[in-house]
Amino acid sequence: MLLSIYKGEDMCGIYGYIGEKSVEEVMKGIKRLEYRGYDSAGIAFQSGEKLNEDENTTNGENITVIKNKGEISNLERIVLNKNLKSNVSIGHTRWATHGEPSIKNSHPHLSGDGRWAIVHNGIIENYLDLKEDLGLQVESETDTEVVALLLEKYYNGNVLSTIKNVCEKLNGSYAFAIITSHSPNKIFVAKRNSPVVVGYGKRYGVVCSDINSIKGANIYVLENEQYAVIERGKINIFDKNLMAINTSELGVVKKVEGGKLGDYSHYMLKEIDEIPTAIKRTVNLYNNIDTLNDALHKLKFKNILIIGCGTAYHAGLIGKRLFEEEGIHCECEIASEFRYKPFVDKKNTLAIFVSQSGETADTINALKLCKQKGLKTLAITNVRNSSITFVADYCIYTCAGSEIGVASTKAYNCQLAIFHILSKYFNYIKNGDSKMFYDEIKNLKSIATLIRNNEIKPICRHIAQKIYKSKSIYMIGRGLDYSIAAEASLKLKEISYIHCEAYPAGELKHGTISLIDKNTFVFAFVTQEKIKDKTFSNINEVVAREGKIILFSPFDNSNKKVVEEIKVPKIKERYYPLFIINYLQLISYYTALLLGNNPDKPRSLAKSVTVE
Ligand code: F6R
Repeated sequence: MLLSIYKGEDMCGIYGYIGEKSVEEVMKGIKRLEYRGYDSAGIAFQSGEKLNEDENTTNGENITVIKNKGEISNLERIVLNKNLKSNVSIGHTRWATHGEPSIKNSHPHLSGDGRWAIVHNGIIENYLDLKEDLGLQVESETDTEVVALLLEKYYNGNVLSTIKNVCEKLNGSYAFAIITSHSPNKIFVAKRNSPVVVGYGKRYGVVCSDINSIKGANIYVLENEQYAVIERGKINIFDKNLMAINTSELGVVKKVEGGKLGDYSHYMLKEIDEIPTAIKRTVNLYNNIDTLNDALHKLKFKNILIIGCGTAYHAGLIGKRLFEEEGIHCECEIASEFRYKPFVDKKNTLAIFVSQSGETADTINALKLCKQKGLKTLAITNVRNSSITFVADYCIYTCAGSEIGVASTKAYNCQLAIFHILSKYFNYIKNGDSKMFYDEIKNLKSIATLIRNNEIKPICRHIAQKIYKSKSIYMIGRGLDYSIAAEASLKLKEISYIHCEAYPAGELKHGTISLIDKNTFVFAFVTQEKIKDKTFSNINEVVAREGKIILFSPFDNSNKKVVEEIKVPKIKERYYPLFIINYLQLISYYTALLLGNNPDKPRSLAKSVTVE
C-alpha cells in the first residue's frame, strides 16, 4: 500500500464538497472539525448569483465567500439563512497563526480577480519574501492570501499546472483546497506535510484535513507533493510531475466513526462514564500473548524511552514506573523537550510514543528523530490511520472510542491499561512467565468493574462546590501518587482555569510551602503503603500552615484537621492511578460547570495540537 506519512502541522480544518447541497455538506463537515479548535470559519462556493456584500460576504467571479469570527454557529446563521444553492464548496476552520482572529484573516481567501478561492492548512514560511519580491497587494495578514494572488499571477491557462508551479515556489507546509472559475465543478487539492484526505461516493466528491471527519465511501490519504482533482463521483490523483496515479494502487482507507452525545449535556461527562467499557475493550483487544506477538514481533530491547505531551506524557510517567517494576530501565520525556536536547544513545532502546489523537506535531517529530537515530519505535494511539500510525514501526491501539471532549479522560485510562499490559508482556518476553501476564489481564478487568462513576458523582460534586472559588490549588503525592497529582492538576486547570500545581509531596517544603495559607486547598494522594507515612508527614506540614487538605487514600488518617477525606477501596497499589483519576476527572468537570465554563471546549485549547 502506498500510504505514506500523514503528518499534522496545523490546527485548522478543511472541508470541501462537490455534489448536491454542497454548502450544507460543508457546514456539517466543518462542524465535525470543531474539535480541533478554531477562532473563525468561512466557506466559498461556486454560484452564478451575486449576494449583497457586507463585512462577511464577498463576491468573486462566480464564487462567493462568506466568513465570520468565533463559533461556527456565527457563520451558520448567515449561511443557512440565505438558502444558497451550489454544487461546489470549500470550507475552513481557522486557528490563528498569521494575524489575529478576524473576518479579514479567515479563510477562504479570494484572489484579486475573484477567480480563485483557497483554503489552507499549514504554514508558508517564505510568504513575506514572495509578497515583497512580487509586490503583491494583500488585504489580510495571512500567508494564504499570498498563495491566492500567486495563482492569479501565474495562471497559464491550465489550472493544475498553475497550482503545481505555485506550489513549487513555496517553502513550508500546506494542504490546499482550491476552487476556480477557470475550471468550475472541480475542487483542486495539493499537499505537502499537512494532512489531507480525498474521497468520493456515487454523486459526490469530498476533501478533508482529518481522515475521521470525512464523509465518503472511497477515501485516499494524499502523499506529499501529490495533487488531486475532485469531481462528482470521481477523483484523479497526480504525482509531483502531474503524472496520473492509479488510485487502485493507493488502497482505500478505513475511518473511525465519531461519537454521539446522546442524552449527555457534555462529551466530557459521557466520556468519563465510558471509562470502564473503554478499559475492557482495550484489554480485550490485547488479552493474549499471541496478539501481542503479532503486533510487536516479540520485540527485544534493553531500555525503554516513553515520549508524549500533556496527558499522554502523564500516562507515560505511570508506564515508566510499571516498566521499572519489571526491572526494565525506562525514561519518560516530554516530546517538545526531548526534541531539542542532546541525544544520548542508549543502545538497544525501544522508544514508545503515546498520543490519543496520533496527530500531535511534537510527538510525531520526536518519533521521526528517534527513527533517524535508529531506535525501534512503537506508537500507542487511539486513532487508527492517524499520522503517527504511518510513521511508527509498531502500533498498539487504545480502544477508548472517539474522544471529542478537549480534555482527555477515557483515553488516559486506556493508555494506562496498555502500559499495564505491556509491562507484563515484556516481562513474559524476558522471563517466559505467562501467568503474570494473564493475571494482569484479569486484574485490569476487575478494576474496570470497580470504577462506578454514578456512586462517586455526589462526592465529586461536593468537592467541586468546596473548591470552585479557589484562586490556587496544589496537589501532592509521591511516586505513582505524584503521577496521579500531575494528571489531576492538568485536568482541573485546563477546564476550570483555576491555577493548580502538582508537587512531589516531599518537595513542597523546599519552597512552595510558603504559598500555602488558610485559603489554599491541597489535594493529597496516599495510596502506596511503603511511602504513606512520609506523605502523611507532608500532609501535617500543610495542615500546620492552615492549608485545607482533601485526602484520597485507602489508609487511616490520624490528622483530624484534614477537611475532606475520601476513603478509596483497598485494591492492589499499582492500579490506583487507573482507579482514582476518575474522581479527579469528575471533580474537574463539576468545577468547570460551577464556574460557567464549557468543559468540552476550554478556552485557547484544541483537541489536536498539530502545531509545534
Ligand atoms: C489534556 C490533553 C492534552 C493532550 C496533549 C497530547 O487533557 O488532552 O494535554 O494529552 O495535547 O495529545 P495527544 O494525546 O493527542 O498526543
